[in-house]
Order: sequence, then C-alpha cells, then structure tokens
Amino acid sequence: MNAYYWKAWFSVGGMSLLTLLMIAGARAQSTPAKGSSEGATATSPKLAEEEYKNIQALKGIPADQVIPSMQFIAASLGVECEYCHLARAFEKDDKKPKLTARKMIGMMMAINKENFEGHREVTCYSCHRGSPDPVATPMIAAEEPRREAAEAAKAGEPKPVFPPADQLLDKYVGAIGGAEALQKVTSRVEKGILTAFGGQHFPVDVYSKAPDKRLSVMHLPNGDSLTAFDGTQGWLSVPGRVHRMSTAENAAARIDADLYFPLHVKTLYERFRVNAGEKIDGHDTYLVVGLKEGQPPLLLYFDKESGLLLRLVRYAETPLGRNPTQIDYADYREANGLKAPFRWTLSRPGNQFTIQVEQLQQNVPVDDAKFAPPPEPPPAAQKRAAP
Ligand code: HEC
Ligand code: HEC
Repeated sequence: MNAYYWKAWFSVGGMSLLTLLMIAGARAQSTPAKGSSEGATATSPKLAEEEYKNIQALKGIPADQVIPSMQFIAASLGVECEYCHLARAFEKDDKKPKLTARKMIGMMMAINKENFEGHREVTCYSCHRGSPDPVATPMIAAEEPRREAAEAAKAGEPKPVFPPADQLLDKYVGAIGGAEALQKVTSRVEKGILTAFGGQHFPVDVYSKAPDKRLSVMHLPNGDSLTAFDGTQGWLSVPGRVHRMSTAENAAARIDADLYFPLHVKTLYERFRVNAGEKIDGHDTYLVVGLKEGQPPLLLYFDKESGLLLRLVRYAETPLGRNPTQIDYADYREANGLKAPFRWTLSRPGNQFTIQVEQLQQNVPVDDAKFAPPPEPPPAAQKRAAP
C-alpha cells in the first residue's frame, strides 16, 4: 500500500488514517515503560510533555491537543508531516523546518501576547496562507481590488435584511419533512460508495441509531476501517489499531452522529447570527452562524428557496488555531416521509471525500454493540510483543 493511497484517507471523525497510523507509532514509542495504569491514557488530562518525548514550545497543553495542533501547522503551511518529521521518530530534531517551526510557535505566542492582549489573533496561517514561504510583497492583481467593490457597496446600497435565524432553522426542519417525521426515524442504514481524492472508490456502510450513535465502515482492500461514536466516546480503527477520540474530536463526532440534529441545533448554541451565504452548487444561500461562549462557531448554509441544509462548517479548537471541516449535502431524497441527503462531501485542508448513498433503510434493528469501541490491546502486551 503506497503513501498516496493512505493520504487519500481520513475519517469522518477528524483524523487521517495516515495520521492515525503515525501517531499509533509515536505513542507506542513515547509511552514511558512504567508499570502504571496506562489504560486510562485516553481520559486522564495528561500534558503534552508527559505523553511525548521532546516537547519544548507546546509545554503545558493537553496531550490530546498535540496532533490537532500539528494538523493545524501542516494545513497552514500546506505541507505534510514529513516536511518536519521523520516517520516513526517524531521526537527527533533533525529536520531544519522543525527547528524553525518551534521558534515560530514562540514568535506567534509573543506577537499575540504583546499586541493582542493574549488573544489568538495571529496564527501560522495569518502569514503562511498555505505555503512555507510567506509572501512579503503585494501582488499586482488582474482584477479590480475587492476592497473597492466592497466600499462601493457600503456607500450605495442599503444594508440587506435577513430572516431571523429561528425562522430559517424552523424552515429547515419543515423542508426535510417536519419534526414528527424526523422523530419517527429511530435508525438508518446506508450503503454506498465512497470516492476519495485521486478517484479511488470503496464500498461504505453507515449505521445511525437514535439519538446519537453512528458507525461508518469503509471496506478497504486491506481490511475494514471504522469510525464510530457510541453516544459518549468516539473511536477509529484500522486492522490491529484503535484510536479513541479526544475531547475535541468527540464533540465533532457527536454533531455528526446526532440523528435529530435539525431539531437539536437550536439548543446547542446560545446565539445565532444570519448573513448572506455564498452560492453553493448554483443555489443562493443564507448563512446561519451558531455561537456559544468558549466554543468555535458552527456555520450552516441553507438553500434560500428550499430551506434545506447545503453546507455545514465546523471547527476544532487547537492551541495554535482552528482546524476546519466542511460538509456539503446534496441529492436530497425522500424516505419514510423524511428528506435525507443521499450524497455528502467532507473536506478538510488538503483532503476530501464524497459518499454517494445507493441504498437507504430506516427503522431497521441495529445492535447497540456495533457502536462500542473494540477493546484496546493491554499496553503490557503491546510492549512485550517485541523480543
Ligand atoms: C512545520 C513543521 C511541522 C509539521 C509540518 C508537523 N510538525 Fe509535528 N512537531 C513540530 C514541532 C516544532 C514539534 C515540537 C513542538 C514542541 O517543541 O513543543 C513537533 C512535535 C510533534 C510530535 C511530538 C513528538 C515527541 O515525542 O516529542 C508529534 C507526535 C508530531 N509532531 C506529529 C506530527 C504529525 C502527525 C504531523 C502531521 C499532521 C506533524 N507533526 C507536522 C513541527 C511540525
Ligand atoms: C508573523 C508572520 C509569521 C507567523 C505568524 C508565522 N510565520 Fe513561519 N515564517 C514567516 C516568515 C516571514 C518565514 C520565512 C523566513 C525566511 O525566509 O527566512 C517563515 C518561515 C517558516 C518556516 C521555514 C520554511 C522553510 O523554508 O522551510 C517554517 C517551518 C515556519 N515558518 C513555520 C511556522 C509555524 C509552524 C507557524 C505557527 C506556529 C508560523 N510559521 C507562524 C512568518 C511567519
């Protein structure tokens, strides 16, 4: 299996399979050979420097924020992990960009501390914009600068008026068939085809069970890759390896798993703001932004005409910046009086896949045991396996 194949892969839960495999390696190496209760690793708030071997700039952050921070760095610079790391030796400092990056983390924190009262206003992306080499000179654009167009609009046109968020959220529930029809659905089993970057196709099964259990099974040539949320804990697995989701990953997985999301969304946020949304697939949209103190916002794009949800953007907070995930919904079809998207595309910086549902069944029995994480191999067994 080549590296490109794995790159195309990442889970619905938030992490690429490649990353998963790499961290599994990094963790196994960095786990101190103490006889202590290592089984509790996933839940105890361990610090980065306790879990990993060579943390200097990120000292003090929770250990489960290290990999999401790394994903943020990679996305901000438009590079892969290998740009700074040797596979299987993440703690080593023998690539120059890693040393530069460590200094940059300190610089970024200092800029924010000294100029923005410690608020994280400037991030790696502010300067890098998807490239390792920031551009310092303004470009000469072929088009009229956007600023002028925006100022012209400000001066001339009256401020647009938008429908209140409540109305748009209610319209959404109505558009899919109403609260009653939605609550009649207690389970959903979807079978379809997943198309990843590069055009590879794989069969995929998605099981959902009310209120918030979900499992997707991707049938890969080397065995099944699973992503699941059991209502409390999310996990990912590839043959022989299990990764339990971090707190931030769990929060995202819970939204994806919520079968009654259209009804629940109102209660998940304290305030909503409405704006003009961009055109999606030829449809004009309203953008409804869900806001809650201490949480990243949730962006919902509703079709102006049909009221259906066409796009959802959510963010996972990391100490360095926010990692975005965008899900586009399409091909809404009716099943048991309820409209469900038969196609969705999940995108993250540098990565994307589409699932096209071919068969959908609702209210069929689905065993709870399906969603439970497989037992982790005891750490002692893992370590002693090597001679
Ligand atoms: C632009 C450079 C850069 C990129 C790209 C990058 N990292 Fe890092 N990584 C660092 C730096 C710098 C540190 C050390 C941070 C510190 O000193 O606190 C680090 C530390 C780590 C560690 C801790 C290792 C240890 O035991 O001390 C892991 C694990 C890691 N990175 C994984 C990844 C993964 C996975 C990716 C790809 C998603 C990635 N990194 C991408 C720069 C990078
Ligand atoms: C205030 C702007 C700014 C911020 C913020 C910033 N950088 Fe940089 N970074 C630069 C500039 C400018 C260079 C190029 C320096 C040069 O050419 O010698 C650079 C270079 C780098 C390089 C070396 C690239 C190479 O040529 O291999 C790495 C790696 C890097 N930055 C990582 C980061 C990371 C990680 C963050 C966030 C923690 C970050 N930077 C935040 C401005 C910034």
